[in-house]
Amino acid sequence: MSRPMTWVSSTDRFRVPTGTLRMALFIEILQRFPPGHLLDLGTGHGIFARLAADIGWKVTAMDARETRFPNDSRIQWVHEDVRNFDIAGYDVISCLGLWYHLTLDDQLDIAKRAQGTPLVIDTHFAKLNWQDHLKSRKVLSRRLVKDRGYEGRLYNETDLQDRNTASFHNLDSFWPTEQSLRQLLQDAGYDIIEDVRPDVTHDRRFFVANSIDQIRGERLDELIGKYMPLAEPTPTPASSADAG
Ligand SMILES: C[S@@+](CC[C@H](N)C(=O)[O-])C[C@H]1O[C@@H](n2cnc3c(N)ncnc32)[C@H](O)[C@@H]1O
Repeated sequence: MSRPMTWVSSTDRFRVPTGTLRMALFIEILQRFPPGHLLDLGTGHGIFARLAADIGWKVTAMDARETRFPNDSRIQWVHEDVRNFDIAGYDVISCLGLWYHLTLDDQLDIAKRAQGTPLVIDTHFAKLNWQDHLKSRKVLSRRLVKDRGYEGRLYNETDLQDRNTASFHNLDSFWPTEQSLRQLLQDAGYDIIEDVRPDVTHDRRFFVANSIDQIRGERLDELIGKYMPLAEPTPTPASSADAG
C-alpha cells in the first residue's frame, strides 16, 4: 500500500530538502508559543531570524561573524561571540546549527545562563557507534569521550576555520550523545526536553527544552492533586532514625 504524500515527504521539491525541513520545523515549534522576543544565536545568514519576524516575533539575531547578516531592518543584528553576550530576558532562545560548534564548557554555560527560557536547539549529536556517522567521520573522534559525566565525540574544526559556518575561537567542538544532551539540559534546570521528529538527518535533530515555572507548577499540582494526592516529603535519614 503506498503511503499518502505528506508535506514533509514532499519537501524534496525544494532546493535543499534538509534546509526546507529545518525551516518548517522551526516555524512549527515557534508557533507553539505566543509571539514575543526571540533571541537567535549563531544566526549566520539570518533566514531563521527573518522567518520568525515574518510570523510576528520581535527578533534579536547574533553571530560572531557578521559577513552574512542580511539587510532586514525588522531585526536587531548583533555582532558578538555568544560567550560574551547576555542571553537573559528573552521569551524564546533559538540555537540552530550552533550547539555542535561549541565546547562542552560553552554548552553548559549557555544552558545555565538561559535560566529556563524555552530553548530550541537544532544540532548534530554523537551516535553511539562511530560507523553510524555517515558524513563527518573524518573529523569526529572515533572514541566517545566522557567529561564530567557527559558523553560525546570531539569534532575537530581546525581545517574548517576559513568557513563562515565554523566554530569561532575553538578548534574542537563537542557533539554530545542524545542522552548526554538531555542530561546536560536537565542539569541546567530544564524539566521537559522534547525530541522533535522527523530528524533533520541521521545524526541531527531539533530538541525543545522547557521548564515549568512556579505558577505553572502550582497549577499542575492543583490539577493533578485531585487524582493523585501529593506525597508527604520523604523523611531525611536523621528524622526517620528519630521516628524509630
Ligand atoms: C552552521 S552556521 C548556522 C547558521 C544558521 N543558524 C543555521 O542554522 O543555518 C553556525 C553559525 O554559528 C556562528 N558561530 C560559531 N561560533 C559562534 C560563537 N562562539 N558565537 C556566536 N556565533 C558563533 C558561525 O559564525 C555561524 O554563522
